[in-house]
Amino acid sequence: MKKGSNRRKFLFSASLGAAMTGCRQGEKPAAEDEGPNRLGKPVSEYGDRSPHEKSKRLKPETKTPEAASTRTPLQDSYGILTPAALHFERHHSGVPAIDPARHQLLLHGLVDRPLVFGMDELKRLPSVSRIHFVECSGNGRSEWSAKGAPDAQRSQGLASCSEWTGVPLSLLLAEAGVQSSAKWLLAEGGDASKMSRSIPLQKANEDILVAYGQNGEALRPEQGYPLRLVVPGWEGNINVKWLRRIKVVDEPVMTKDETSKYTDLMADGKARIFTFVVDAKSLITYPSGGQKLAAKGFHEISGLAWSGRGKIERVEVSTDGGKSWVNARLEEPRHRMAFTRFRLPWTWDGSETVLVSRCTDESGYVQPDRAQLIEARGMNSDYHNNATKPWQVMADGSVKNA
Ligand code: CO
Repeated sequence: MKKGSNRRKFLFSASLGAAMTGCRQGEKPAAEDEGPNRLGKPVSEYGDRSPHEKSKRLKPETKTPEAASTRTPLQDSYGILTPAALHFERHHSGVPAIDPARHQLLLHGLVDRPLVFGMDELKRLPSVSRIHFVECSGNGRSEWSAKGAPDAQRSQGLASCSEWTGVPLSLLLAEAGVQSSAKWLLAEGGDASKMSRSIPLQKANEDILVAYGQNGEALRPEQGYPLRLVVPGWEGNINVKWLRRIKVVDEPVMTKDETSKYTDLMADGKARIFTFVVDAKSLITYPSGGQKLAAKGFHEISGLAWSGRGKIERVEVSTDGGKSWVNARLEEPRHRMAFTRFRLPWTWDGSETVLVSRCTDESGYVQPDRAQLIEARGMNSDYHNNATKPWQVMADGSVKNA
């Protein structure tokens, strides 16, 4: 066993040789690093990241930032969780400033007992914590064009993954007593445009959360503080933020948000509506567009895969533009409707090539490539693009969209 680990060490160091000789030995430390025997900064009440870490959400250039989105830097992420401060945003009318002491959730419509919950009352109820991704159905929109986006953030950054804490919506519905004619819910947000969507009642009884917590603390304002829906595996927009009202109804309400947007126009002129489920997708985050391989030799290919239909069962990676595929290692535990991290050791020989990943979820669904997706859906719709994402590695180590 000792022998094996020595051998592995030897192989890695041989392979990493070029990069390691590049280490800047004897270089003077920066001013702030000087004096290792001096006392450091005192304790603090709320931590900040190191000033050396610069990873940021990507803001669009727009005259209406209140109705815009920011993107998660997936290429910089480790593991499966997105820091709350880097979770992507999509707002239709800005982030409302809500006092939790005054915030209420109204539950009414086809129920025996209409109810109003304050935040304290909600948090007294039995809660659960679950890890789920949220992905905007517009994510990957740029990839419908042959050119695509230059990096993982611009291409796929409207997806993030958090641990969410909240009360199962089914519990609130049971308290209110849902009537037999009920089939759908209307969920309404407390932002200026009262963003609202219709949701089948059946999904509420399966796994929807009324969430107040994210990654161990209260939701961030831009993630719906103090209360949002988390609808596992369904398109981002339906995870209504700043949740203030749920009405139990017998048919979809056809709100402005689900008729003017979030429908998918097909090649024959008909539109798909209520396309809720996020189809399985995977993305190589290293090496990915905009990054540069420092040297030939060992690199660990790494990326994320997720599906609205449950667990990720398999991720295959091709390092030769799709001619051959091998199974990547999937990190455990794998959660349903959550990011799964995959990894594959790779020795780059220094020649130009194309890297691409393809995932399969527990329902057996296999991620399509762009040509298959266009054949099935045409080019009119720009929502729900879950095509495989190739990256081209150039001979100088730079990586670009393929
Ligand atoms: Co949709």
